[in-house]
Amino acid sequence: MADTRVTLNGIVLDNPVIPASGTFGYGYEFAELYDIDCLGSFSFKGTTREPRFGNPTPRIAECTAGMINSVGLQNPGVDKVISEELPRLRACFHKPVVANVSGFSVEEYAETCARLDTCPEIGWLEVNVSCPNVHDGGMAFGTSPEAAAAVTRAVKAVTKKPVWIKLSPNVTDIASIAAACEEAGADGISLINTLLGMRIDLRTRRPVIANKMGGFSGSAIKPVALRMVYQVYEAVQVPVIGMGGVSSAEDVIEMMLAGATAVQVGAANLVNPFACRDIIDDLPRAMEKYGIDKLSDITGGAHNG
Ligand code: FUM
Repeated sequence: MADTRVTLNGIVLDNPVIPASGTFGYGYEFAELYDIDCLGSFSFKGTTREPRFGNPTPRIAECTAGMINSVGLQNPGVDKVISEELPRLRACFHKPVVANVSGFSVEEYAETCARLDTCPEIGWLEVNVSCPNVHDGGMAFGTSPEAAAAVTRAVKAVTKKPVWIKLSPNVTDIASIAAACEEAGADGISLINTLLGMRIDLRTRRPVIANKMGGFSGSAIKPVALRMVYQVYEAVQVPVIGMGGVSSAEDVIEMMLAGATAVQVGAANLVNPFACRDIIDDLPRAMEKYGIDKLSDITGGAHNG
């Protein structure tokens, strides 16, 4: 029988499939559609210390083989996440969850993570230093090794949970940023967040997105994501959580061969809300097709020889 299990920081997942932050709400929204306990885990909506209304609309633009979003980290703030969202989630998801955290200062990242550290349902903190849609924070911390390391150190000081740093592809040398995060104590590196992009309306001759630019995701970015996962795998010892354009069981296998221990699925959830369940159901078939008995054996397989 196909063994789809993988281990992340000592926690065994039934399979490596994790819905990416911002594409799966706080989980319970999707539990109305299917039993989300089939997931390896999931990464909940990016959470900040204070509530955020997000960016003006339009926030979404369709593209060939992808989409642009500029949501702007809309979320109810960490206190409400703990008091309202997590109790709802607890009723329908019975595995450790990934808490995705954003911030506008090193102190804010640390305070939010310290609050989430108290929540037993959270297995990992995914610290997002790569949101392209906000000013004075977000991606600003993910574009220099020093800034990313400073956030990592501050967060590690306030939690015993494993900390992943979610990196931006909008940089020249992602491997050096990943290595700096590992050096500062990161327990995993997740990548890639979205690529900064834009579209222009030919009739109005103005950007489609109110914020002008946004994050491009979807199957068009998979080759970029694979390249960066491959590079980061060679630069760090900690687990790599790969994402970017994954929409099939074959994509999961490809991302793992590049170096991912687990794989996040993002934009595909917005096209097909059953995408993660379908990928999980299809994994045994794809594993048999490519002669894989144990999925965890293939991580980094493309680097051999
Ligand atoms: O705009 C957003 O909320 C996106 C966040 C991200 O890509 O990290």
